[in-house]
Amino acid sequence: MARRKKIYEGKAKILYEGPEPGTIVQYFKDDATAFNAEKKDVIDGKGVLNNRLSEFFMTGLNQIGVPTHFIRRLNMREQLVRNCEIIPLEVIVRNYAAGSISKRLGIAEGTQLPRPIVEYCYKDDALGDPLVTEEHIAAFGWAGQQDMDDILSLALRVNDFMSGVMLAVGIRLVDFKIEIGRVYDGDFQRLIVADEISPDSCRLWDIETGQKLDKDVFRRDLGNLTDAYSEVARRLGVLPQSNVNKPTLIN
Ligand code: TMP
Ligand code: ASP
Repeated sequence: MARRKKIYEGKAKILYEGPEPGTIVQYFKDDATAFNAEKKDVIDGKGVLNNRLSEFFMTGLNQIGVPTHFIRRLNMREQLVRNCEIIPLEVIVRNYAAGSISKRLGIAEGTQLPRPIVEYCYKDDALGDPLVTEEHIAAFGWAGQQDMDDILSLALRVNDFMSGVMLAVGIRLVDFKIEIGRVYDGDFQRLIVADEISPDSCRLWDIETGQKLDKDVFRRDLGNLTDAYSEVARRLGVLPQSNVNKPTLIN
């Protein structure tokens, strides 16, 4: 296939113009970054795993009626997605304390939160994606009140789905980040889950051992990131049992 026009290159993905109007090809790179790209590496096979895992989660969400941008996987590293206007927010849902909330509020990592807590960060690398409140979001016009109601409902549905799927394979969904996009069907606007859902954007801990199976392995130098992601994929049946360490995919 002729190389498509590049629309955008981010830290972990490249977006190309899709084959039909309103579509985008999302290419998953092997690049890993943390702390706003202060720490960088190339992790062999990460893109292949995240392409497949994001497909798995987004397909499940589509099946239970949570709309996502995902259309279909094209190959090992690329998926076809619906073009949408990304709302400039990182929507974070936390079930257990970890990472920035532990630091900010002095809560020990692993403490179960009284209920899922939803936080919003303004998507701006130059500012380091700062935490913002609904006041900022409304005042600066990033999203309206109806959007915020819909975003909250989408975030909590994704949380219930992801928590259940992970629990079934012995993994605790500690927290995750999603991005939301706007699509237009004629004059009608609706919101869908966009970007990716993968161990890059979640915290996943083994329920028995507490072993980290997400990007904290890279952020905190805890071992081999591909092994961790492969373990998640293997448990979910996304990788064949015999090929734990190699991102060879089943169809
Ligand atoms: P945090 O504890 O660092 O705020 O992260 C919360 C969740 O959001 C965690 O699952 C990792 C994810 N995340 C991203 O996907 N991208 C980011 O840039 C950051 C900082 C966190
Ligand atoms: N994605 C962010 C970065 O690259 C931060 C992170 O995930 O820790 O730099």
